Amino acid sequence: MTKQPKFSEVFYNPISYLGVVVSVLVFVVEVILFGLEMLSSASNLYLGLITYLILPGVLLTGLLLIPLGAIWRRRQIRRGEAITELAHLRLDLSIPTHRNAILVFIIGSGILMLMSMAGSYKAYQYTESVEFCGTLCHNVMHPEYTAYKNSPHGKVKCVECHIGSGADWFVKSKASGLRQVYHVILGDYHRPIEVPVHNLRPAADTCQECHWAGKFFGVKNLRKTYYLAEQNDRKWITQMDLHMGGHENKNSGVHAHMNLDQEVYYAAEDAERQKITWVKSVKRNGEQSVFVTKTSAFKETPPRADQIRKMDCIDCHNRPTHQFSPPDRLINGAMERNEIDAAMPEIKERGVSLLAKHYTSTEEALLNIRTTLATFYKEKHPDYLAQNATKVEQATLAIQKLFTQNMFPMMNARWDMFPDNIGHMNTPGCFRCHDNKHRNEAGSAITNKCDTCHTIVAQGFEGALEKNLDGLEYKHPDGEEDWKTTPCTKCHNGGA
Ligand code: HEC
Ligand code: HEC
Ligand code: HEC
Ligand code: HEC
Ligand code: HEC
Ligand code: HEC
Repeated sequence: MTKQPKFSEVFYNPISYLGVVVSVLVFVVEVILFGLEMLSSASNLYLGLITYLILPGVLLTGLLLIPLGAIWRRRQIRRGEAITELAHLRLDLSIPTHRNAILVFIIGSGILMLMSMAGSYKAYQYTESVEFCGTLCHNVMHPEYTAYKNSPHGKVKCVECHIGSGADWFVKSKASGLRQVYHVILGDYHRPIEVPVHNLRPAADTCQECHWAGKFFGVKNLRKTYYLAEQNDRKWITQMDLHMGGHENKNSGVHAHMNLDQEVYYAAEDAERQKITWVKSVKRNGEQSVFVTKTSAFKETPPRADQIRKMDCIDCHNRPTHQFSPPDRLINGAMERNEIDAAMPEIKERGVSLLAKHYTSTEEALLNIRTTLATFYKEKHPDYLAQNATKVEQATLAIQKLFTQNMFPMMNARWDMFPDNIGHMNTPGCFRCHDNKHRNEAGSAITNKCDTCHTIVAQGFEGALEKNLDGLEYKHPDGEEDWKTTPCTKCHNGGA
């Protein structure tokens, strides 16, 4: 009795055989990878790609080859074509030549598979590298890349904040990456690039991979120095202890927002989330409080679920790495570090206005900085220039450097396009909610008492500091008291 073939004869063709072998191999590899993915807790980002994207593609191809081969074979038979030697292929494991051929085939394709896996892994690693993200579309990402390089996160990979681990966000990011490439080719992308808060991953999966919520800091001592343009660049110092929160006193401090003791939800009326008019706080014990402003669009009808955002790290730390600093801060810093001589007449105001000016290109800006300073000191302070030509040159170079690191005319990227939500001086930041105007039903407001978040421990002109570790009432450098009634941002915007 002859052995019955297990499948219709059309399946006995080389293409289908290949399909079967590939599928079986990939299947085995997949099983192993799934196992690895399950076991490894750390960075399974790369493994995810292979396991979830590349290999399934190969597996699908392998499976498709099986029916394709059958179709090809049937056509051949229908057309009555001479059956080739190959098509006669018959496998018989008792024949040594067949056995060897199969062995060679399996080992060969196994090696091939491994190689292509390694290859795609490398290619993948490359697309995830800082260099790829930051420099491939050079002009486009140049501002973010430059600021990033000079930030505390300069060694953290772009993908660790923008993608995080796991396959689903990976797929989302590559899909949006493709869309971006398309826009770059067309040249119709936004200048500056819009902030990705809407599709940025929740901070719990990114920031908190490195910074954990339970890590509290007692106080952070900040020492700020300013050179007052209106007072001959005299140096003013403000020293404050920022209340970060602490183990003993968990329920207070800035990081109480870190979802440890309360959750904060909010709704904004603008896409930049600068105009926040509805806020809900939910305490650990379940106590809830809703705060609205008098003119809130959500006063009568509360916001829809999709308009509400749960506050996380990025709502305060929205510029942890792409820090485009404002001109006043940049010049104060350079004067403090002595890169710009504080004795140079009127340099604070010159520097700030040169940095804040709008230019069409970096080259134009650098040239303008040089010529403006040269002319200014030649005409206004010839004596100073005569004795301090090197100081003027040093200041010129320092301001040019600050410009190239913080202002990007080509992409229209600078501090005033990206409000930084830490603080409240140049942008509303904390005062988006802490302005004494968001009130709950009981009539109590989200506080803006100055000592809620920080205690001023020293302030005044250099050499004439008043100090008190228990706290001082704030003194504004120009001696005026408008700050008590007027938001800082009414007068301050960083330079422009
Ligand atoms: C420490 C985390 C972190 C790292 C690392 C990081 N980013 Fe970002 N990035 C952010 C956050 C947060 C935002 C959203 C900013 C906002 O909402 O104001 C952002 C925004 C952006 C934007 C939108 C434009 C803008 O300036 O807001 C671009 C483009 C960008 N990042 C590119 C990159 C590139 C390229 C790298 C690597 C060279 C990188 N990022 C590394 C956190 C990060
Ligand atoms: C891959 C790890 C990693 C990730 C992800 C990460 N950070 Fe950091 N972060 C660091 C390191 C490292 C430092 C530098 C610590 C130092 O210099 O002492 C830092 C510093 C900081 C600082 C202090 C900066 C300063 O000026 O001193 C803040 C604030 C911060 N990170 C916020 C964030 C936020 C917000 C995110 C998410 C958008 C984030 N980080 C994501 C590793 C990370
Ligand atoms: C309510 C706003 C707010 C939220 C929400 C917030 N932070 Fe902060 N964080 C601050 C402020 C303000 C500082 C101090 C500013 C400074 O360092 O100049 C700070 C400082 C830090 C620092 C630096 C501490 C140091 O000693 O230098 C890190 C790291 C940090 N935050 C991480 C996080 C992480 C991670 C989250 C989310 C779990 C988070 N923050 C949520 C406001 C916030
Ligand atoms: C989205 C609105 C919102 C923003 C933005 C915001 N907060 Fe708050 N904050 C709240 C709410 C709501 C409370 C709780 C108020 C209550 O329950 O009375 C709170 C409470 C606090 C407390 C505790 C106050 C206390 O009495 O112990 C501190 C400290 C604080 N915030 C600091 C900050 C800092 C610093 C920033 C800016 C970096 C900031 N917050 C930004 C909504 C906000
Ligand atoms: C909700 C918390 C909060 C409240 C309320 C608050 N501040 Fe601040 N303040 C901050 C934070 C956060 C910073 C930024 C610290 C930093 O630069 O890292 C800051 C920074 C400052 C600075 C330094 C500004 C700079 O950028 O150089 C001054 C001055 C200041 N605050 C004064 C005040 C005064 C005056 C009040 C009362 C009208 C007040 N603050 C109320 C949180 C607060
Ligand atoms: C009515 C306008 C006005 C208001 C409101 C105001 N300021 Fe000022 N501020 C000024 C002027 C004017 C100067 C002096 C600038 C100079 O001499 O260079 C100044 C200087 C400063 C400086 C020194 C700046 C530098 O870089 O040299 C700081 C810091 C400051 N103010 C903080 C604040 C804070 C914080 C608030 C809100 C609590 C605030 N100001 C509200 C007008 C204002």
